[in-house]
Amino acid sequence: MTNLKHLFSPLTIRDVTIRNRILSTGHQTFLASKGKITDELIAYHEARAKGGVGMIILESARFHKSSISNLPEIHITSDEHIDGFRKLAASIHQHGAKVIGQLSHSGRCSQMRRDGLRGVVYAPSAIPDHRFHTMPRAMPTEMVDEIILSVGQSAKRIADANLDGVEILVSHGLLFAQFINEETNERNDKYGGSFENRMRALCDSLKAIRKAVGTKRIVGIRISVEELEPNGMEEDVAQAACKFLSDRGLVDYINTTIGSMAGPGGSIHVVPPMEISNGYVVPQAKAIRKATGLPVFVAGRINQPQDADQFISSGDVDMCGMTRAMIADEQMPNKAASGNLDSIRACIACNQGCIGHFHQGYSITCIQHPVSGRETKLSNPTISENLKNVLIAGGGPAGLKAAVVAAQSGHKVTLCETSHELGGQVNLAVKLPGRNEFGGLISNLMAELGQLNVKAHLNTKVTRTFVEKQAPDALIIATGSKAYWPKIEGKDDAHIVDSNQVLLEKVNPGGRVLIADWRCDWVGMGIAEKLALTGRHVRLAVNGIQAGMELQPYQRDHLIGKLHRAGVEIIPYARLFGVDEDTAYLIHTVTHDPILCEEVDTVVLAYGTSADTQLENELVGLNIQTHLAGDCLSPRTAEEAILEGMQAAFSI
Ligand SMILES: Cc1cc2nc3c(=O)[nH]c(=O)nc-3n(C[C@H](O)[C@H](O)[C@H](O)COP(=O)(O)O)c2cc1C
Repeated sequence: MTNLKHLFSPLTIRDVTIRNRILSTGHQTFLASKGKITDELIAYHEARAKGGVGMIILESARFHKSSISNLPEIHITSDEHIDGFRKLAASIHQHGAKVIGQLSHSGRCSQMRRDGLRGVVYAPSAIPDHRFHTMPRAMPTEMVDEIILSVGQSAKRIADANLDGVEILVSHGLLFAQFINEETNERNDKYGGSFENRMRALCDSLKAIRKAVGTKRIVGIRISVEELEPNGMEEDVAQAACKFLSDRGLVDYINTTIGSMAGPGGSIHVVPPMEISNGYVVPQAKAIRKATGLPVFVAGRINQPQDADQFISSGDVDMCGMTRAMIADEQMPNKAASGNLDSIRACIACNQGCIGHFHQGYSITCIQHPVSGRETKLSNPTISENLKNVLIAGGGPAGLKAAVVAAQSGHKVTLCETSHELGGQVNLAVKLPGRNEFGGLISNLMAELGQLNVKAHLNTKVTRTFVEKQAPDALIIATGSKAYWPKIEGKDDAHIVDSNQVLLEKVNPGGRVLIADWRCDWVGMGIAEKLALTGRHVRLAVNGIQAGMELQPYQRDHLIGKLHRAGVEIIPYARLFGVDEDTAYLIHTVTHDPILCEEVDTVVLAYGTSADTQLENELVGLNIQTHLAGDCLSPRTAEEAILEGMQAAFSI
């Protein structure tokens, strides 16, 4: 049993008793369709309710036509939406968790695309947004009145669907925050001017919600403790707003976060990447708890139940948002409750499968846990009817995942790795500055393997002879990829190294370095930071439109900020062509004009890898069921490797 007794103590707000202090904060899944809740979205949340979460706050629901775009978001604009909410609530309730509906309007922080066209964006005042590049139209007074009316009507629908309460978004620099902040509210009607007037749209909305949901259900807000943007809401204003609401009895809880969508810097904190420390919002959440005396929730990189228990027991906050923690492992609360902490697949905040998929317009998932977000299409393994001897060649993410899933399916697994350690390229990735936590992906898989009693054979190269001798029923090839060097004119005259050699510290780059970054991801940027921090002069020549163009935007922008501070010069649209003793010759990727970089001591290639097909080629003609997974098919990321490792094991 658990000794995390504070985390697993119930919390009662109004007539709602929440079984523990673990919260899934609102997060868009892109599992909705045409504004409606789908079976996929229900299956996603039901899995988390079964996994033991205390309360789920649903993703932002659009309540007014002025903030509806073509995105696969949920709407609550008419009674036809009630049914979906009702089914979803029932599926969550049956497993003992509580559920809250979240109402949202983005105001100026909106991309607003409808059928490929830019829609008209409405906000308190015509002040531009610095992330989405929208110039909003100021809402007429009647429109604000209508918004408040819609909030009340939508809250009524949420209550009719039998949810336990309603939360309204005042966070992330969105509409109601724009009203409160005098920098984004230049109105001279009853919704602008004095602080009281700027609070009016929110206060009247909260009154409308209370009227709609009655006295038994919970009403709360989500607010950023500060927005971390120039002209964004500052901590004192956020605190004053919370106190204003609590003094008037308008809210039952304050759900805190940090950041704003009004610019790239503030946006990083909407879903903070791994370099940002665990639970970093807690001190400011605690200050709001002290100022208001209300139950306060917090989120932001809380991925371990032990940390959450500590935040609750010390009286800092009342509930801990552990959102990505449960995207990565929906059973985390149950595992923590039963004291089985070692079996938790901890979130590493890589932002690839969750917010990364979302930003590309796809449903969310987790790179470590491909079933997440795919509950109706992919199941966790069950014992196979046809048990086999399975040989797996390669102990990187693909091979490890294949080994775990094959063993969970009951097969007898032999896992072989050529090198002296498991992990494959993850062992290189963790050497990039701030990326150490990425190694959690391997330690989580190794922990699962350990529990399944699968032993890995290290320093064991799988060859044709080896396979013939073992005679497995099935073979999974997951041999990964090897460093790729392009053809470079004059390469013998210059000091050229590759990113792996730098990360393994097998080479000593000179004082003036040019990084030829074909990958446009973590590697070129990370090496630039690493070398710049040692005092070297670093230029990052990017074979793309910007450094990190392949990365999730919050992750990319966090790295861009670090490179800016480290003094790295970034040259976009630049492809390496040739070198001589102290010059790198690049071409502009659009005009093909030369770009000359002089005074270069070392060129570092961040050119990625090419598939290792040696074993596959050796085995041609051998009659053994064979599956390929990961980089040996084609070099990509750990996400594809893990999914393909799982699929390969399922195909046996
Ligand atoms: C895919 C994704 C979508 C999100 N969408 C929302 C949203 O609709 N409403 C909201 O308040 N927060 C949203 N968030 C932010 C989360 O609620 C949470 O604050 C964030 O993930 C940090 O908490 P964590 O470290 O526990 O994951 C989203 C997060 C993710 C990963």
